[in-house]
Amino acid sequence: MKIALAADHGGFELKEKVKAYLQDKDHDVLDLGCNTDESVDYPSYGKACGEAVASGEAERGIVICGTGIGISIAANKVKGIRCALCTSLFMAEMSRKHNDSNILSLGGRILEHDFALNIVEVWLSTEFEGGRHQRRVDLLDSM
Ligand code: RB5
Repeated sequence: MKIALAADHGGFELKEKVKAYLQDKDHDVLDLGCNTDESVDYPSYGKACGEAVASGEAERGIVICGTGIGISIAANKVKGIRCALCTSLFMAEMSRKHNDSNILSLGGRILEHDFALNIVEVWLSTEFEGGRHQRRVDLLDSM
């Protein structure tokens, strides 16, 4: 799967770990930065990842900042994006099954990094259930 990755300085370290994890699983990674731990602005990176997914350049995206909050807000400003900030395996599972999330947001400063990789694994391997959830996702996309 082609996966776009973007992070600010608060998520840089975890982004590098997620990138290595995805490449190890043979995913095609589109790394949109940032590339150091120097301070940058998370809105630009959330927007870049949102646009990569909304345009079809990448099938899914993962965004990371310190808490995952700011960069998820930025990604969700892009039409067609359903970015879910997940701090548990259950949230990752439900964001796929019920919300068809197309971007996962993680907090690099709040999650233990090995656990964050477990969240990524669950998020990537869980399918959208469709059915009654499709109408609600359509309502989201029409906003
Ligand atoms: C950067 O200091 C921090 O505000 C950012 O990474 C993120 O947590 C914002 O939501």
